[in-house]
Amino acid sequence: MATTRRTCSIFLILSSLVIYGGFCDCYEYRDYVTNSTPPPVAGSVVFESYYNYSCPQAASIVNDLVDKFLAADPNMAGGLQRLHFHDCWVNGCDASVLLNSTSTFVAERDGFTNFRIRGIPEIDEIKGAIESVCPGVVSCADILALVARDATYKVGGPWWPVSLGRRDGFVSLAKNADTNLPFPNLNFNELVQNFASKGFTPREMVILSGSHTIGRSHCNGIQPQLYNFTGIDDLTNPSLDPTFAARLRQQCPKGNKENIVDMDPTKNVFDELYFQEVLAGKSVFTTDSALITDPLGLQVVIESSMPGSTFFQEFADAMVKMGNIELLTGTSGEVRKHCQFIN
Ligand code: HEM
Ligand SMILES: *[C@@H]1O[C@H](CO)[C@@H](O)[C@H](O)[C@H]1NC(C)=O
Ligand SMILES: *[C@@H]1O[C@H](CO)[C@@H](O)[C@H](O)[C@H]1NC(C)=O
Ligand SMILES: *[C@@H]1O[C@H](CO)[C@@H](O)[C@H](O)[C@H]1NC(C)=O
Repeated sequence: MATTRRTCSIFLILSSLVIYGGFCDCYEYRDYVTNSTPPPVAGSVVFESYYNYSCPQAASIVNDLVDKFLAADPNMAGGLQRLHFHDCWVNGCDASVLLNSTSTFVAERDGFTNFRIRGIPEIDEIKGAIESVCPGVVSCADILALVARDATYKVGGPWWPVSLGRRDGFVSLAKNADTNLPFPNLNFNELVQNFASKGFTPREMVILSGSHTIGRSHCNGIQPQLYNFTGIDDLTNPSLDPTFAARLRQQCPKGNKENIVDMDPTKNVFDELYFQEVLAGKSVFTTDSALITDPLGLQVVIESSMPGSTFFQEFADAMVKMGNIELLTGTSGEVRKHCQFIN
């Protein structure tokens, strides 16, 4: 009995040391996150609970405001999701897409590939709400990542976990946007190359193109498929469905940049209809139509067009990967006070 009790006490002492040790780690962790000073290890230190102590309200503020924006206009999900892509593809996910041009530089958002980009005022509103409860803590890059996930999920798409702790960058140049982001007139091999340059496989490229199941487009990006296919003046992509092509030409007369066209017939729902439309020759960009000009692309489009395919899971995985491109963490970058301006 006595031996058992002694063993027991030793066990208790040992386990409280273990618990105490754990508490110490917890304390240090809480310390740096509370102070919004970075974790001690440089590199890709991002994790879901990054703001648990320093701004536990952040995720729910994002969630509630995305709800509000989508209640006013569910099509805004497209604009909100795309911002994260356009951010991550240029200088990594560092909120460079949000910076406004100044007298000394022309910012990414004023490049061709960001023509009439939307969602920036909405991000400002979210940032303002977060700043009012935890000033100087939550980066604009993290807000973009959370918003893209929430917007996608709320219009019927997949959910994915978002790691946090990204920091905001100092550089935003229109020419970087236009040398990194894909132009809408690329062919299959050019798309593969563009995505490979960011570490993505051809399959992931096709899967991510499924994002064009939501939102809208200006005629600016549609012109090449209607009036300059493969660089030939006045040529419309002959593989388009003729009725669809005729309607699209009405919606987007030659030279028109500003008219707005639905991305697909269920533009407010994230579903697999986009892939069915691509197969039917009814997609707005040369790049969408190009997906089925290659055997692998065709196979992925056919698979993804079927309800119950792995499209949602693969899309979620690819978005997680996108959210980790070339991150600024640790002491790199900063946490902007206003997303459109460097501090
Ligand atoms: C494959 C190469 C891609 C090309 C060439 C491309 C091109 C475009 C263009 C030209 C627009 C129209 C923008 C406008 O005029 O307002 C657009 C819209 C959109 N893109 Fe892409 N995109 C590509 C890939 C992606 C990816 C990977 C994502 C996200 C993961 C994405 C998400 C979107 C969304 C959601 C919209 C709708 C935007 C809105 O409703 O405001 N795109 N894209
Ligand atoms: C962080 O907060 C979330 C949401 O309240 C909670 O689900 C999660 O368990 C927390 N994680 C940690 C490590 O504290
Ligand atoms: C960003 O710049 C544009 C003009 O380039 C201006 O109209 C707009 O008000 C600026 N945004 C903010 C938040 O100052
Ligand atoms: C048509 O495409 C070619 C090749 O991409 C380009 O050089 C030319 O400027 C384009 N024409 C128009 C009217 O956009």
